[in-house]
Amino acid sequence: MTLTIRADADAAAPCEPKGPLQGLARPCTASDAEQLAALMLDSYRGTVDDEGETIDDARRVVAALIAGEFGTADWDASVVFEREGRVVSAALVTRDRVAPPPLVAGEAFLAFSMTAASEKRRGLGRAGVMRVVEILRRRGEPRLHLVVTRANVPAVTLYLALGFEPLPLPAGEGRGLDAAESAQQGA
Ligand SMILES: CC(C)(COP(=O)(O)OP(=O)(O)OC[C@H]1O[C@@H](n2cnc3c(N)ncnc32)[C@H](O)[C@@H]1OP(=O)(O)O)[C@@H](O)C(=O)NCCC(=O)NCCS
Repeated sequence: MTLTIRADADAAAPCEPKGPLQGLARPCTASDAEQLAALMLDSYRGTVDDEGETIDDARRVVAALIAGEFGTADWDASVVFEREGRVVSAALVTRDRVAPPPLVAGEAFLAFSMTAASEKRRGLGRAGVMRVVEILRRRGEPRLHLVVTRANVPAVTLYLALGFEPLPLPAGEGRGLDAAESAQQGA
């Protein structure tokens, strides 16, 4: 799926959660690795993408992210929400991902969006992606891409609501990077 980032979007559009979520956001860094692994395991548990992974599996995925295997991590465009020392949601951006068309290498790619089970449906997922989009908009970037499992209703609903559009991959090109993602929505 791809979001076309409108340069003229309403600057007043909220990118910060209100109320009890306010002030929880901060940039993500590689030093969040262990917290991201714990969040990954917790957020995907019981979802369509859950294949019974362990914390060591999650650590390996995070290590791969940091190593650039999902594209070069763009930490400045990545955001986490932290409550009382615990990372409870994250929206992580990479770029220069080797991608089949219509994904565009070099453009921003939302590699991971995840919210801890106990914090879901409180607006963190939406706020994280909106914050990423606002950072990219200020940089003048044109698009944000992602790959999502077609059956992942929470994620697909969120992305459609934010204006992402399904862009089908060429036949046979839909693929997963890991448990975290699989078929391109619309493929
Ligand atoms: C997808 C995910 C990140 C959403 O995080 P979240 O913090 O719960 O999302 P939000 O509370 O901001 O929800 C925003 C909107 O998404 C949609 N949504 C979220 N969860 C949903 C669900 N279970 N069913 C249907 N729609 C849902 C709704 O439109 C929701 O708005 P609403 O609450 O006003 O109705 C979270 O479910 C998650 O971590 N899933 C596991 C990891 C994953 O699959 N990530 C995406 C990989 S591409």
